[in-house]
Amino acid sequence: MTEAALKEAKQPSEINLESGPDAGEHQTVGAPFHDNAKITVRNVDVFYADKQAVFDVSLDIGKNEVIAMIGPSGCGKSTFLRCLNRMNDTIDICRVTGSIKLEEKEILDTKIDVVPLRAEVGMVFQKPNPFPKSIYDNVAYGPRIHGLASRRSELDEIVETSLQKAGLWNEVKDRLHAPGTGLSGGQQQRLCIARTIAVSPEVILMDEPCSALDPIATAKIEELIAELSENFTIAIVTHSMQQAARVSNRTAYFHMGKLIEVNETEQVFTNPDHKLTEAYITGRFG
Ligand SMILES: Nc1ncnc2c1ncn2[C@@H]1O[C@H](COP(=O)(O)OP(=O)(O)OP(=O)(O)O)[C@@H](O)[C@H]1O
Ligand SMILES: [Mg+2]
Repeated sequence: MTEAALKEAKQPSEINLESGPDAGEHQTVGAPFHDNAKITVRNVDVFYADKQAVFDVSLDIGKNEVIAMIGPSGCGKSTFLRCLNRMNDTIDICRVTGSIKLEEKEILDTKIDVVPLRAEVGMVFQKPNPFPKSIYDNVAYGPRIHGLASRRSELDEIVETSLQKAGLWNEVKDRLHAPGTGLSGGQQQRLCIARTIAVSPEVILMDEPCSALDPIATAKIEELIAELSENFTIAIVTHSMQQAARVSNRTAYFHMGKLIEVNETEQVFTNPDHKLTEAYITGRFG
């Protein structure tokens, strides 16, 4: 469907703000598709037991794009993000249907091995979660289990490069064998980013990666996101509209499990296509 047809399908004026999006037929407005997609999501529904949490989401995430996902608490942002590397598999009652392709590979195919998938599509969580190991071993962990280095010198090099890319090398190079948990919160989050990039992912998912950090540590992570986007595709969930505006190319607005609007970030924050997006960004709910 063309963009124009998509807009035609659901005019903002048809939406009643009090009742949220329609329960039935639903179309995302704006530009959910991308000419150079890294991830192609089609008609994804997610259920926790018999309760549906995500409704019929179709979205492309472009190569080297940073896409921000915003929306009120409980609207399904984390649930949707976790679909992209099969992390919902770890929740017994969770069921995901539809299609999600990483380039040509169907990642919802139950036959694929999720261990290499999660190296290709890495994830950084809300709360920094370094392993109770040294800084070195935190970063070396993934390369070791995926057999990415045959010699110690190669492993040393992966560890150094990953810490450099994560903007942490200068702060830790003299204490690589100290525990990762002894770093500050912002440093721990950069360590987790180094651990994620050490296995050369193609996509990095970040679920509110700065929510536990102070403004200085947050600024560092945001700078890092800009640098990382040269080499990786990044999907970031954030509650901070300023952060979405600073780091992302496109923004996706979720509401009660539905993907309401996707557009260039600047447009979403200045001239959204949908009334629900407008209500959210102007602080009328959420
Ligand atoms: N493990 C779970 N078991 C059952 N229901 C869940 C589970 N995780 C999430 N849900 C439900 O799915 C819906 C979407 O939750 P989700 O955590 O994806 O929202 P969110 O947009 O990330 O919210 P927040 O901004 O608060 O993090 C909510 O109704 C939530 O209660
Ligand atoms: Mg969440």
